[in-house]
Amino acid sequence: MALKIMIPKETLEGEKRVAMTPEVATRLVSQGYEVSVEASAGHYARHADEDYVEAGAAIVSDSLKAMGEADIVLKVQAPTIEEVSAMKEGACVVAFMQPYQNHDLVKACADKRLTAFSVELIPRTSRAQAMDALSSQATVAGYKAALMAANMTDRFLPMLTTAAGTIRPATVLVLGAGVAGLQAIATAKRLGAIVEAYDIRKAAGEQIRSLGAKFIELEIDAEAEGGYARELTEEEKAQEKELLNSHIAKADIVITTAQIPGRRAPLLMPTATVELMKPGSVLIDMAAETGGNCELTRAGESYDYNGITIFGPVNLPSTIAVHASEMYSKNLMNFLGLFSQEEGQLKIDWEDDILAGSVVTHEGEVKNQSVAEAMKGGQS
Ligand code: NAI
Repeated sequence: MALKIMIPKETLEGEKRVAMTPEVATRLVSQGYEVSVEASAGHYARHADEDYVEAGAAIVSDSLKAMGEADIVLKVQAPTIEEVSAMKEGACVVAFMQPYQNHDLVKACADKRLTAFSVELIPRTSRAQAMDALSSQATVAGYKAALMAANMTDRFLPMLTTAAGTIRPATVLVLGAGVAGLQAIATAKRLGAIVEAYDIRKAAGEQIRSLGAKFIELEIDAEAEGGYARELTEEEKAQEKELLNSHIAKADIVITTAQIPGRRAPLLMPTATVELMKPGSVLIDMAAETGGNCELTRAGESYDYNGITIFGPVNLPSTIAVHASEMYSKNLMNFLGLFSQEEGQLKIDWEDDILAGSVVTHEGEVKNQSVAEAMKGGQS
């Protein structure tokens, strides 16, 4: 009997992505999976129901019923408690589970004995690159953040030599040069701005320079295990602040992207720092969803603060739903490639570091140690 994969329509308000494109559905059907997709699930990613039917998938109208029959449910956003309740005991679900925030959901998945994988927990190793949904979606977000900033400023980004005089290029400052930050840098460079960037990881300097931007260097290296940033000490924070303030005061656009996995985003821009910015400048806080890098950020809103535009976008990848879905869907296809099927049963190799690293719940237990600890401590 073929294993059943089900793709529901995303229910979170404003979410336009879909977890599987027809192209990937074709591949999975050819691998022997039976695929069903909720009617109009691909609508905003520009995939019609007929495209899925042509790919060999079935279109279903009762999503909860289909979820109850599925062996694997693939989603972009975390499932709702209602969806988890509808799923078959022992089924597998893969999504952006946000397990550090969604404690009730993790508990519901464990109670339902679901094997829940969180794509955010996929290790950042070379072998996992093709499955790294955090990276693919951060690429989309970084690109869009730079475009939005360009749209919000009342200046040109490139230098222009015209009969009406020479226009100086705008200065864009990017704080945090991970995947999203590097894409924002690359996009702002393509638009002709002078780009400067800062990251507490020294290793980011080489990548920043390779994009033609200037690396603002501080005598601190805060790279920790796995390539992520560790938290800075108080003294390091004071040094960082002084250096950055001089660059913040000159910038026409500041894009902040600093994150610390599983924790609140670091505060890089307290009100006093924002007040150093020039009238007419734009601040885009890409960490709005995890508490914000700026004290004045209002998630999902853009407003004027003493002539400075402060914008805390949420769910940027959804605004480029076609390509974000294409990338995410390929990430999931590659992730599913780690599973095997044996006599109609899903086989999961727990020796595989990617599967073992990204599982949140299995057989009624919370498998991820740091999520389990956060839940015990009531931390989010
Ligand atoms: P992220 O979204 O967790 O954070 C964004 C950036 O903010 C990071 O570069 C981080 O160093 C920086 N940051 C944190 N605190 C800061 C502060 N106080 N001031 C300034 N910057 C601060 O990072 P992302 O994009 O998820 O990447 C994390 C790391 O993983 C990077 O080293 C990246 O190169 C690496 N990576 C490795 C991959 C692989 O080998 N397969 C794939 C993707 C990322």
